[in-house]
Order: sequence, then C-alpha cells, then structure tokens
Amino acid sequence: MDMLELLRARRSIRAYTGQAIEPQKVELLKEAVLRSPSSRNLDSWEFIFVEDRERLTKLAVCKPHGADFLADAALGIVVCGDSRASDTWIEDCSIASILVQMVAQSIGLGSCWIQVRNRMSDGQMTSEQYIQALLGSPEHLKIESIIAIGYPAEKREPLSRADLQDAKVHTNAYGR
Ligand SMILES: Cc1cc2nc3c(=O)[nH]c(=O)nc-3n(C[C@H](O)[C@H](O)[C@H](O)COP(=O)(O)O)c2cc1C
Repeated sequence: MDMLELLRARRSIRAYTGQAIEPQKVELLKEAVLRSPSSRNLDSWEFIFVEDRERLTKLAVCKPHGADFLADAALGIVVCGDSRASDTWIEDCSIASILVQMVAQSIGLGSCWIQVRNRMSDGQMTSEQYIQALLGSPEHLKIESIIAIGYPAEKREPLSRADLQDAKVHTNAYGR
C-alpha cells in the first residue's frame, strides 16, 4: 500500500485479538521509531517497548480514561523525550508516534495513540510520574504518549473523501 492508501484506511484501533506480534515485526517497529526525523538530528526521543502482560495491565490504568485497551494490546511503545536535549522534543516524539502507527498499519497491525503528556493518573500523581515509577525511567525523560499495538479485533470504516473538512484548508490567505 502506498502512503496515501495507508492514510485513507487509517483508523484508531482499540480492540486486539491477543495474538502476539512476531519478533520480525517488532524489529520493523523498532526500525521505524529510530528512523524518525528529529529537529537538528538531535534524536531527543527514547522508546520503551513493553510486551510484558503485567506491565501492560498496569500501564492501562496510567490515567482514568482512554488507556484501558492497552491491557489487551500485544505491545505498548512508551514514547519518551529528553527536554534537556532539545526544545522540540514534543515534535520529535509526535513524529515518531505517528510514523510507528503508520508502519504498524502497513504490516497488518492496528494501533492507537494514548496521550500521556499533561494527563493525571489520579488526584496526586501525573500519568508521567506513574509510568516513570512503573518502568524505572529517569525523571528528565518526559513521556509524551504510549502507542498501543496489536492485531485488530475490530474493523473501522475509513473516512470518505466527503467526510474531510475542506474548510480547514486555506489557500494563499486565511478564509480563502
Ligand atoms: C495527540 C493524540 C492523542 C490521543 N489520545 C488518545 C487517548 O488518550 N486515548 C484514545 O483512546 N485515543 C486517543 N487518540 C486517538 C484519537 O481519539 C483519534 O485519532 C481520533 O478520535 C480520530 O479517530 P481515528 O484515529 O480513528 O481517525 C489520540 C490521538 C492523538 C492524535
């Protein structure tokens, strides 16, 4: 599938079959994140690939809503960025997050972005602090997202061309 075809078919997938991801495919996902472009080539990101079921189950409660499906995913990629290394760590991490989602889709996997940055785990702890404590990652490594990945157990219809919001795109000046 070419890139535009992939984009046309892309939807967030939040239900997974439970089938493990073959090690060769996990390697492709590792290659994908490491090939992500970063500002000034500073590679401010680091990635924690979590396949351990117990840890995935604990990650699934890193925030009260929108992460529960991680408990059934085959893989969670915790996308971390070093804010000391680059002031574009958020952009660098975002690019890696979406690129790995697209590569996952291209090899038959489904995925969903789980927002971590600026989210709370409970009244006391941020989702980031919860994950750092669970995975032992250092405080200076910010956590932007977790990408949940697995074989899809749901089929979601692609958006049609008519569904797209053409009014969001302006030509030469705003409003035209
Ligand atoms: C920055 C970002 C954060 C997101 N955070 C979550 C999340 O925490 N939990 C979740 O279930 N989906 C999350 N999503 C997925 C969006 O809800 C989803 O992309 C959007 O509803 C459009 O649906 P689609 O991806 O199927 O086209 C996130 C997506 C983005 C781009």
